[in-house]
Amino acid sequence: MFATESDTVTRRLTPALREQVRHELPEIAQIRDDDLREKVISAWCLALARSSYASIREIPPEGNPGSMRLIRGDQTDHIRGVTRLAIAMADELATTNPDLPLNRDIVVAGGICHDVGKPWEFDPENRKRWQGARHKAGVPSLRHPAYGAHLCLLVGLPEEVAHIAAAHSGEGELLVRSLENTIVHTADIGYWSIMLAGGLIDPDTIAGKYKRPISL
Ligand SMILES: [Fe+2]
Repeated sequence: MFATESDTVTRRLTPALREQVRHELPEIAQIRDDDLREKVISAWCLALARSSYASIREIPPEGNPGSMRLIRGDQTDHIRGVTRLAIAMADELATTNPDLPLNRDIVVAGGICHDVGKPWEFDPENRKRWQGARHKAGVPSLRHPAYGAHLCLLVGLPEEVAHIAAAHSGEGELLVRSLENTIVHTADIGYWSIMLAGGLIDPDTIAGKYKRPISL
């Protein structure tokens, strides 16, 4: 599957890493389709294997590098929180609206994979390279939505999941989000907004779009 991968990356793609990803993101078990579930694990394994992170827990709990940092926890808290919020919204709305054309597996897979590109965008080695030659490949060369969509397609995940990785964030303002992506996007924005309202975001890292025009 990963014919173009370097030996170093291939060596890191072990059964132990798959088990670790299952353990770090236990909501993966809620994906009912076996093939979809295994490909979600593959996407996260590849994301880690291609980065300097050995674990999703090593990635800072931030929305973007240096921005919207949780005062405690790690990146798994965000990914799991968004996935569970998205599942809760999907289940509630499907119960009260049986004609909603909702694919629950895509909501779960999309929640788990929406930030699968973060190991790339947050990687200190990548960030040093980009900052050292800003004219060359941009800063960053690819944000996590673009790189995440690349990973999803590379491991054979359906375009419905790649779309959620690609367009859960600001990139989604340039297109029409799917139903499942609208749920994940709402969960993602809701997660950061609620953490901020509850005082669980480091005040020095609040992103401009969350700042109020007056301070009270
Ligand atoms: Fe997110």
